Amino acid sequence: MTATTTTQPGIIPVAAATATATADHMVENGAANGPAKLSGYEFWRTALKGARYVAAPMVDQSELAFRKLNRRYGAELCYTPMFHARLFGESKAYREEQWQSDEADRPLVVQFCGNNPEEVLRAALLVQDKCDAVDLNIGCPQHIARRGHYGSFLQDEWELLEKIVSLLHKQLSVPVTCKIRVFPDPERTVAYAKMLERAGAQLLTVHGRTREMKGHKTGLADWTQIRRVKEAVSIPVFANGNILRYEDVAACIEATGVDGVMSAEGLLYNPALFSGKQPRVWEMAEEYLNICHDTPTKPCYIRPHLFKLLRPCLNNHTDLRERLTQARTVADFAEMVSELKKRLMQEEESDTVVDRGINADTGLPNYPHWQCQPYVRPPLVENKRKLALEEAEAAAAAQIGRNVSETCCGAEADAQAKRAQTVEASEQLAIAL
Ligand SMILES: Cc1cc2nc3c(=O)[nH]c(=O)nc-3n(C[C@H](O)[C@H](O)[C@H](O)COP(=O)(O)O)c2cc1C
Repeated sequence: MTATTTTQPGIIPVAAATATATADHMVENGAANGPAKLSGYEFWRTALKGARYVAAPMVDQSELAFRKLNRRYGAELCYTPMFHARLFGESKAYREEQWQSDEADRPLVVQFCGNNPEEVLRAALLVQDKCDAVDLNIGCPQHIARRGHYGSFLQDEWELLEKIVSLLHKQLSVPVTCKIRVFPDPERTVAYAKMLERAGAQLLTVHGRTREMKGHKTGLADWTQIRRVKEAVSIPVFANGNILRYEDVAACIEATGVDGVMSAEGLLYNPALFSGKQPRVWEMAEEYLNICHDTPTKPCYIRPHLFKLLRPCLNNHTDLRERLTQARTVADFAEMVSELKKRLMQEEESDTVVDRGINADTGLPNYPHWQCQPYVRPPLVENKRKLALEEAEAAAAAQIGRNVSETCCGAEADAQAKRAQTVEASEQLAIAL
């Protein structure tokens, strides 16, 4: 392997992608090149430090700056966004564009998608010294995953998955883990989880939604299926889905018996979720921007973060929403947040409400708009006409590249995937290179 390095500040370099996937110096379990590889609970307890609070992989949104913020507020383990294994292995430009980490960014799981065992291994070999595990994303249900033939669209190709997981298990120096969705049939979910465990996965994250549950059909995650998996395998299991606020974490552990709980959208709306705090939105925005000041972060990552964080108050301050759309630099974003802070502090000061009561739709307390709070998705729409209307609206929104907030590899991720720094565009970039 020829080692060249990336040059961006604050970034731990990954080796250049000249490694061959069939590196013959590697042996079973990658153990020949270093200390014995940890497995299952030993891995979770030692390398992952028994992490129970887990920040999810999110395309364009679990970037280093956001991971830093999450860790300050109780996240005990973070995942990188999903990287496209073939591009990561082949293209230095893609790696430099996507990869960002530093010494404090641990424990860290690096996630890849891919459908070719050698390609996934090649990518994973490049990061194995910079992380605690490599995760295979086999849960992404989005259109781009269907086209690229990865994510949940490999859910029925057990032989192929077995090959990918067992190759990583045998050749990497760090454990391989998998993030999965459930099947409609719980028996199949359990058989699937056991197959991945047999293949060598050392930890499973189970998103309790099926592949079909996305967009307006997202609905609630099924914790009973997660419990079934947890009871059936001997490796640690993380639960994912329905974690909107701190109280949900204990409820989920209680209901499923899992070892840890992973949150994605909940953290986008309240990065302090795992600490049990609901800070003022401007406090979180300021802290995130301070991190971005020292940790180079693209405006196209910052903007959607601020839209989510500031969501409860942007309806009342539409001029600032416009400023957020126009902002291009950390200084622009900071100015906008500073103006919002001024207004919100006044509003809080003059607020006289003693009891805000319970929201009849969500059953949750009504929080003041200056406070980070869970975003509760509207219930499943049964009415077909309404559904068709929503579908058309979502398609239109995606087309004009707006951020549509959706769950799992969200339509948001799908929309973002259309932009220059995402997998598909990067693919063109890689072809052009
Ligand atoms: C913006 C966004 C990007 C996402 N990107 C990824 C990804 O890169 N890899 C992945 O496995 N899941 C991805 N997901 C799915 C989440 O990790 C998670 O499985 C899903 O949102 C359900 O968890 P939640 O209910 O806590 O949001 C993404 C979700 C969102 C909202």
